[in-house]
Amino acid sequence: MAAKKPNLDPDQILQAIYDSPDVQGFRDLQWQGTFKEYLQLAMEDPAVVRHAHQRVYDMILSHGMQEYDYQKQRLIKYNFFGDPFSNGQDAIYGIEKPLMQLVAHFKSAAYGFGTEKRVLLLHGPVGSSKSTIARLLKRGLEQYSRSKEGRLFTFGWKVKDEVTGQEIIWSPMNEEPLKLIPAEPRKKLLAQLNALNKLPYKLNIEGDLDPLSRKLMRELIAQYNGDWRAVIDKHIVVKRLLISEKDRVGIGTFQPKDEKNQDATELTGDVNYRKIAFYGVDSDPRAFNFDGEFCVANRGIVEFVEVLKLDVAFLYDLLGASQEHSIKPKKFPQTDIDEVIIGHTNAPEYRKLQSNELMEAFRDRTVKIDVPYNTTLDHEIRIYRKDFTPERVNKHIAPHTVEIAAMWAVLTRLEEPKRGGISLLQKLKLYNGKSVPGMTEDNIREMRAEAHHEGMEGISPRYIQDKISNAIVNHTTTDTVNPFMVLNELESGLSHHSLINSEDTRKYYRELLGVVRQEYEEIAKNEVQRAISADEDAIARLCSNYIDHVKAFTQRERVRNKYTGELEEPDERMMRGIEEKIDISESRKDDFRREIMNYIGALALEGRTFDYKTNERLHRALELKLFEDQKDSIKLTSLVSNVVDKETQAKIDVVKQRLIQKYGYNDTSANDLLNFVASIFARGDAKE
Ligand SMILES: Nc1ncnc2c1ncn2[C@@H]1O[C@H](COP(=O)(O)OP(=O)(O)O)[C@@H](O)[C@H]1O
Ligand SMILES: [Mg+2]
Repeated sequence: MAAKKPNLDPDQILQAIYDSPDVQGFRDLQWQGTFKEYLQLAMEDPAVVRHAHQRVYDMILSHGMQEYDYQKQRLIKYNFFGDPFSNGQDAIYGIEKPLMQLVAHFKSAAYGFGTEKRVLLLHGPVGSSKSTIARLLKRGLEQYSRSKEGRLFTFGWKVKDEVTGQEIIWSPMNEEPLKLIPAEPRKKLLAQLNALNKLPYKLNIEGDLDPLSRKLMRELIAQYNGDWRAVIDKHIVVKRLLISEKDRVGIGTFQPKDEKNQDATELTGDVNYRKIAFYGVDSDPRAFNFDGEFCVANRGIVEFVEVLKLDVAFLYDLLGASQEHSIKPKKFPQTDIDEVIIGHTNAPEYRKLQSNELMEAFRDRTVKIDVPYNTTLDHEIRIYRKDFTPERVNKHIAPHTVEIAAMWAVLTRLEEPKRGGISLLQKLKLYNGKSVPGMTEDNIREMRAEAHHEGMEGISPRYIQDKISNAIVNHTTTDTVNPFMVLNELESGLSHHSLINSEDTRKYYRELLGVVRQEYEEIAKNEVQRAISADEDAIARLCSNYIDHVKAFTQRERVRNKYTGELEEPDERMMRGIEEKIDISESRKDDFRREIMNYIGALALEGRTFDYKTNERLHRALELKLFEDQKDSIKLTSLVSNVVDKETQAKIDVVKQRLIQKYGYNDTSANDLLNFVASIFARGDAKE
């Protein structure tokens, strides 16, 4: 068949691109129209006039959510925090409750319950994802403003800029066009919009225009002898507003650099000296750049990084801005703003200022949300899986390596359980959804409730990320990173960890490393046990042998020896050897054997045969027995002495292959594991 000829006509190619939905989308985004057209649009879709808090709230909900119960807690998972923007790279795991609080804050702000007048303060230990949350909100709003359901608009004046020569002067603070309507008629219009509005809360457009728009309005109204309609028709153009941090539209970020060098103009804007030369006075808004972070962020979000490192004077500006919804640019009166103000601060900074009198004012005007570290193991593992993917790491990461590091991180964050008889490690497992004998979900809920401060201290994910990275780069002679390398990095880093300020803490964290090492021994042993006994044929043989003898035992018969052909008594030692593996006591053995035979009998009546895999306990017992038998024949411990005969090596290689094929090891890590477990067994043998 002849290959289809490629299309080489540039006109056709361009037309195809032009017709594609992506490019069609550009046109919607570039929409410009008259004030009247916008008014029409607002009637059809009143949501376009939502204020910043309402838009952020709806943006979060627009990604969907799931309600679910976990260990007697009703939780909501908002898909938004799974980071739909960059493929989960900024996904947040395991801290549903604080995230629910965060959304509740936006909700009550959307409904106008007062939280829209507060600074949202994310407070937590270093590396608890505060910046990540702020980043997500910003990304989310950028994307939402580009969607139909999240679109918003601003306006410009068809008035020539005498200095730059531009034909349109855009509202420097990207104001909502309906703010051009004077207060009284605006109220009436809002009532109409609210009647059409299908949103669960009331729309509200508060405040006056930016100083430049006010001035232009005043002048034009005078010029047209008070004819507002003429001004609007002849001089106003409306356009879609695309929120973009890069373009400094609708998103501002303030990061204190130098304590001594903070300047209010960074928040509110500064005089434009080139334009002053033209307009003569610095109080002319045409000669002012409304480009401070508060101005830039109007209609969207302003983020204050490490907000408590801000100069005190700044903090008061910030509080005023949120409380009054207004800022004061140099030489201009109070100017209304509509934006979400988010600050974040690390717990140590917050503690330092707690006794400061400023803090009283601050506490009064902020909604503080504690963002703790995650305390569930599986979630912690996912945090690191994000970074250490096979595509990024050109090395093999041995199974359980990340798990072990995550386990230690979570342990450092847990509070000692008050109830006796439960170890910290058991608590970790309970939180992680594993069952521990004697513990109910109510107990777990109580345990959570009594640990008020849990997750607000401990080792940060960043420390773990750094140490895993070190383990990957530092061992240049091997193709593999294993749990020991990471454990060693974690340990050696402790001595110069800047955030640990007491020797006791350091010592405690070291002890927890010991707990994790021990747990890894268990995990490693288990894995090798399972790999050794994963020989299904051998288990099936063992099982059928066991059943033969159990049958003879329950029917008081004898068993024919397969090799000698002679009839013999059932092999009590062999049967007990299996049963003891799952703690069937001597007094219970008759019952156990009879149950199995009854079960097999019932199956036989239906014409079915018995499969040991359907009986979990028996299966486990068989595995353990097989392992015990093979352990000696495989002579794993000979690995320790380095003298391995050919036959043993062949058997070990079979196990190794299983580790590689079924359990995710590579050659190196499988060898490491087998050697490690061999040394544990050798130690055990020596003890016996
Ligand atoms: N609960 C969590 N879920 C997912 N990632 C987390 C979580 N907590 C911390 N991280 C990760 O830890 C790192 C530090 O987070 P960051 O937002 O910079 O913390 P903070 O601003 O609180 O100091 C980031 O890589 C972040 O993705
Ligand atoms: Mg941060």
